[in-house]
Amino acid sequence: MIKDKATKITNIATKRGFFFPTAEIYGSKAGFWTYGHLGKLMKLRFENLWRSYFLGLNNNYYEIEGNSILPAEVFKASGHLEKFNDPLVECTKCHFRFRADDLIEEHTEKSASEMSTEQMDKIIHDKKLKCPKCGSALGKVAWFNMMFEVKLGATGDDKAFLSPETAQNPYLSFKREFFALREKLPLGLAMIGKAFRNEISPRQGFFRLREFTQAELQIFFDPEDLEKADNWDDIKSYHLHLLLHNDKKLAKMTCEEAFKKLKLPKFYVYHLARIQQFYLDLLKIPAEKFRFRELSEEERAFYNKIHFDIELELDTLGGFKEVAGLHYRTKHDLSKHQEGSKEILEVNINEKKFIPHVLEISFGVDRNIWALMDIFYDEEKERSLFHFPSAIAPISVAVFPLLGNNEHLVEKAEQVYKHLSNDFKVLFDSSGSIGRMYRRVDEIGCPAMITIDHQSLKDDTVTIRNRDNMKQERVKVNELVQKLRSHYFV
Ligand code: GAP
Repeated sequence: MIKDKATKITNIATKRGFFFPTAEIYGSKAGFWTYGHLGKLMKLRFENLWRSYFLGLNNNYYEIEGNSILPAEVFKASGHLEKFNDPLVECTKCHFRFRADDLIEEHTEKSASEMSTEQMDKIIHDKKLKCPKCGSALGKVAWFNMMFEVKLGATGDDKAFLSPETAQNPYLSFKREFFALREKLPLGLAMIGKAFRNEISPRQGFFRLREFTQAELQIFFDPEDLEKADNWDDIKSYHLHLLLHNDKKLAKMTCEEAFKKLKLPKFYVYHLARIQQFYLDLLKIPAEKFRFRELSEEERAFYNKIHFDIELELDTLGGFKEVAGLHYRTKHDLSKHQEGSKEILEVNINEKKFIPHVLEISFGVDRNIWALMDIFYDEEKERSLFHFPSAIAPISVAVFPLLGNNEHLVEKAEQVYKHLSNDFKVLFDSSGSIGRMYRRVDEIGCPAMITIDHQSLKDDTVTIRNRDNMKQERVKVNELVQKLRSHYFV
């Protein structure tokens, strides 16, 4: 049933133009997907929502755009060349390669994220774990670096890498931007861009990719301000959904309690609240499908002092899955780049010299797109549909003439289409029976459908059909924009 849902969503996505495997005509490679016209519209809407919401948190938060290819020195300093590894295990017979930690986690209750290769070998031996493909014996676990190498120029001596996270660009740009923005902290530098990881076996369809988009905000701040949050009063009574690392049950506690009882810094808790509000209020994710999961010291990267993942419950992947994270990265990044580049990256504010700390809000855009499709997919007797909230639906309004072969109705429908196109992303279709056209736009999650019928020609009215309850109402054309805004796009 669960697999079934993933297949149904993927079928709609590929058939209707949300996304499909890249280079399909050549057989395609796992982990690479192309956004079709609907997927691209939806992705843009998600990114714009993210942009306006998170950059709106502070008047000193901005977006930059760096490069996907960065010099090897960057990743030597950041630690990626040495440590950005996944444990690889290969079947001795069929030579299928996959992640040893995934295999161990599937067969034991243990998290393998911090195990050594020897520990993993021991578990594979003790539990008699075999190749999931052909059942044969497995070889030894070895580290596999996930970076894609690029050779620059004709000689190829100049080594570079495709960046596995957008985060490095803001660190590299910090000094320039800090001075350009009048030496103030906190300073937020966001980047929405591509990230590349040579995943060993990307088996989760659209969820684990080798080329994907991240939307990340790096907030540089004075560590002495960790216990401050400008708008604390706005969120202090807001209830967070927290799964703490030593708990099996969700704790719902206010921000004030999280600060006092859990000793989480105010600056961190404030951003937890804002992230939860983004999911619940803007994306309309049902509250019970949202949680923050705290990572234990063993699970989180060594430089992350506090790390909660944002997880959404997805039927298609069998439970709560990570779609984003909030990481307190301390001064790790700027100090490592100061060391590696020999450039001074410390700041001097009011005679105080220090290396700013970083709080990182990190979203995987594609994972969020899949999650939205999973959560809002629905089936009714005669139709399948996405109940997308209007903020992210790829098409906002569809306009149809009741009869595609009646030139008066088509002409009037085209006028209405033009009228609405200034305010909304509108789809025009005159190519089928009205029932079929409704089903087609239900299936792409369009919230409102306008039909032009014979009465429209007489009194300049149209009907609006509501995607979710299929009810129709008649509205004057000159009141249409207002009606759509107040009733359909709130
Ligand atoms: N800069 C921090 C960072 O990159 P991460 O947890 O490795 O942290 C952040 O990645 C987010 O990027 C994840 O929460 C996830 O949404 C997304 N992501 C990571 N690996 C991915 C992959 N292989 N395919 C799709 N999205 C991925």
